[in-house]
Amino acid sequence: MAILPIYEVPHPILKQVAKPVVSVDDRVRRLLDDMAETMYAANGVGLAAPQVGASERILVAAVPLRGGWSEETEEDEEVGTKAFLTEVINPEIIEREGTLLYDEGCLSVPEFSLEVERSERIVIRALDRHGDPFEFQARGFYAVVFQHEIDHLDGVTLYDRMSALKRALYLKKLKKMRKNGAGSNPNPPEPTP
Ligand code: NI
Repeated sequence: MAILPIYEVPHPILKQVAKPVVSVDDRVRRLLDDMAETMYAANGVGLAAPQVGASERILVAAVPLRGGWSEETEEDEEVGTKAFLTEVINPEIIEREGTLLYDEGCLSVPEFSLEVERSERIVIRALDRHGDPFEFQARGFYAVVFQHEIDHLDGVTLYDRMSALKRALYLKKLKKMRKNGAGSNPNPPEPTP
């Protein structure tokens, strides 16, 4: 397994609509493994393939999936740690219910958070790491995580949700941060197809 570089805004790969996975093979499984390793190393709760330079509809989340449900319980202290991993390929949201507001952050938009309105409960249809279809429900914070990561697959980040003025100020701040070498990655390698 390898820790991959994380692409940050305004890198163009984050704006692309990612392509569906046609064949879930060893290459895809390796990418899933590397994405999980990268997510844990960065203390992220979710990571989408475009964030590591692969424009493909793949995401991982450090949240549990139990009996077709991904819902927070009081025992979930290990969220964001290696205790939990949900792998999702070619996800589609086939049902939505309710709304909630959540203050979201993103590994590709460092030092920034934004309140976003999301569906409170969703049903996702996807493929697992063996290429088999499965469905699950996600609720609350975990539903937010999956919706955030699926946004990445559609080329949408928190950066795109900022006003033009906010975006300009943020880029300025980011540039300054990078000059100080503050934990960001200004020049990731060119994406692999
Ligand atoms: Ni993100």
